[in-house]
Amino acid sequence: MPKTVTERLATERLAADSVGIARAAALLRAGRLVAFPTETVYGLGADARNGDAVAAVYAAKGRPAFNPLIVHVADLAAAEALAEIGTGARALATAFWPGPLTLVLPKRGAELPDAVTAGLDTVAIRVPAHPLARALLAAFGGPIVGPSANPSGSVSPTTAGHVLDGLSGRIAAVLDGGPCPVGVESTIVGFRGEAPVLLRPGGLPVEAIEPALGQALATRAGDAAVSAPGQLASHYAPEAPLRLNAGAPEAGELWLGFGPLVGREGLSLSEAGDLAEAAANLFGHLRALDAMAGGRTIAVARVPEKGLGLAINDRLRRAAAPRR
Ligand code: TXA
Ligand code: MG
Repeated sequence: MPKTVTERLATERLAADSVGIARAAALLRAGRLVAFPTETVYGLGADARNGDAVAAVYAAKGRPAFNPLIVHVADLAAAEALAEIGTGARALATAFWPGPLTLVLPKRGAELPDAVTAGLDTVAIRVPAHPLARALLAAFGGPIVGPSANPSGSVSPTTAGHVLDGLSGRIAAVLDGGPCPVGVESTIVGFRGEAPVLLRPGGLPVEAIEPALGQALATRAGDAAVSAPGQLASHYAPEAPLRLNAGAPEAGELWLGFGPLVGREGLSLSEAGDLAEAAANLFGHLRALDAMAGGRTIAVARVPEKGLGLAINDRLRRAAAPRR
């Protein structure tokens, strides 16, 4: 059993400076778990080549063994060592890396232990844009697995404080880079042969991806072979019940708005109705409302189903889904 789960550790909070980055890299080299900021959400980092460290990630999150991890690398060349990159994937990598896009690609070579990919013959790879994530990848010098740094099934973390709320005592350290600017996880694209498939809407809007590909993205509906195994119906779940697409709060409900709050008890994802601001606020506002709900339902305003709204609505639907 990995040390990280049999003992309670005093989780170190590392500053976003050269000392903090060097410490984080040294801990990763020693097979320890270090949460780090990306532009989307905080990732739970471990050495992707170390089977014990990868096992400790699943244990710390309580993540089912069938749900594979995303591998973070510094650049396209590093991705090429781990995966086969076809024409469409190369076009997307060239256009959007570094950035909030994950590509699911045929796995190549034997560097990654089977646990990283949950035994699949594909691997999810992403080149993050956040300066601290990039500095950590450079200092560590190898691939880093990074699922969102939260207990499995709960709301993803967008601050170091959120990470500590869920994983304090279960991981060695968190590198504190402040709030994540995008706020929802990366968009995941896989390929059925050469045909691109949207596996998870996320921080890179579909409307940006399709022109770069020169073709439409299929959705994964009904295609079990290419679905993301982690896309469980109930996920990102707060304690409080959610009522979606609400026109207004009913008596006794808290309000999660999109647009002006107009004196309602709750929070607005964006007073100005801006989808990027709403995405950046989504998980933090869900946490804050959950903490004040005390048994009350959170009524959620309708969010437009375009751009980042696809990712926001996807996460809201999972947060509202019946619990397993
Ligand atoms: O923005 C993000 O992607 C963040 C940051 C930290 O990079 N990471 C993240 O990881 O959201 P996670 O583990 O919470 O979500 C990864 C998703 C899961 O739904 C998983 O099932 C899917 O990626 N996935 C991983 N490998 C896959 C594969 N080989 N085939 C299909 N889906 C895969
Ligand atoms: Mg996650």
